[in-house]
Amino acid sequence: MKIGGKAWRSIWVNSDGWSAGVIDQTKLPHAFVTARIASAEAASQAIKSMMVRGAPLIGATAAYGMCMDLREDASDAALNAAYELLLAARPTAVNLRWALDEMRTALAPLPPAMRVQTAYALAAKICDDDVSICERIGQHGLKLIEAAAGKSSAREVNILTHCNAGWLATVDWGTALAPIYMAHDAGIKLHVWVDETRPRNQGASLTAWELGQHGVPHTIIADNAGGHLMQHGRVDMCIVGTDRTTARGDVCNKIGTYLKALAAFDNNVPFYVALPSTTIDWSIEDGVASIPIEERAPEELTRITGRTPDGGLCEVDIAAPGSPAGNYAFDVTPARLVSGLITERGLCAATSAGLRKMFPEHAS
Ligand code: MRU
Repeated sequence: MKIGGKAWRSIWVNSDGWSAGVIDQTKLPHAFVTARIASAEAASQAIKSMMVRGAPLIGATAAYGMCMDLREDASDAALNAAYELLLAARPTAVNLRWALDEMRTALAPLPPAMRVQTAYALAAKICDDDVSICERIGQHGLKLIEAAAGKSSAREVNILTHCNAGWLATVDWGTALAPIYMAHDAGIKLHVWVDETRPRNQGASLTAWELGQHGVPHTIIADNAGGHLMQHGRVDMCIVGTDRTTARGDVCNKIGTYLKALAAFDNNVPFYVALPSTTIDWSIEDGVASIPIEERAPEELTRITGRTPDGGLCEVDIAAPGSPAGNYAFDVTPARLVSGLITERGLCAATSAGLRKMFPEHAS
């Protein structure tokens, strides 16, 4: 991804050779600010505060956080302590556990003196693999957009997306947005409806900013507008990301995704979910019953931050003092509402059979 003509990833190793740099996503779109992460505790705080967010990126951040604490103490106890601390940062996205498991499984058998170097190499590999996986998701998703565009180059394809599943949520490219970037670069005329995504507004603040940086035409809409637009034929397809997908294809994603899938189903609009296989939790089938849904602070609902005319940032209350608020961060879309899963290996049905055919190593 390029910002102001310069290529960026969403996480990198600083010039000191060991701390990590990230983009502070809580400041976007008003300011492009980077931050330094130098310990597992700092990585955990960055994930909790959503300075970094998005399932693949929190996995990558946790991997580097573990590396940093191992520099101080590479014992088994320190390895396990960093694992537990980072795992507790956010409960829903399964990539966090996946990345930490990858790290601990590779590091635990090694003598402590060999752990730090191996840990950094593995964290870098997790990042590089994520970039290549997202690029392949983009190539497979591009075919769907090409098909929707048909033969006419004048035909505009309208795509609705929810939350931010772009390069800011991954290491580069994104999941749901990767096919959109590739289609735009291939000269396909498209336009993206961007759900604002209350309460943290990842759509309005992050997705719209990303698309704008890449020159992709888009319009921010209120979360509740999607059904209306679908009824009027103004959405050709939905593409969203996911934080955890079950072995039968139930999809857990940012709160509000389920309602978009229901509206898409009622209006015969294809509803695609783009995901790296690191987001699949092969240990569960029923997403509604089994996926823990993060409940965040009520203030994320009752207060809002924005830019004032003098360029400063200001936080204001939008509810009466003391009004109780419930801030459920994710919901589960049942597989029956999902038209297809766009994975790094191709498009598959959101069914047990479809997923197992695409990933036969998980067939048993
Ligand atoms: O709470 P967030 O911002 O970390 O949630 C992220 C999402 O839900 C995204 O929509 C995304 O699809 C998952 S990450 C590619």
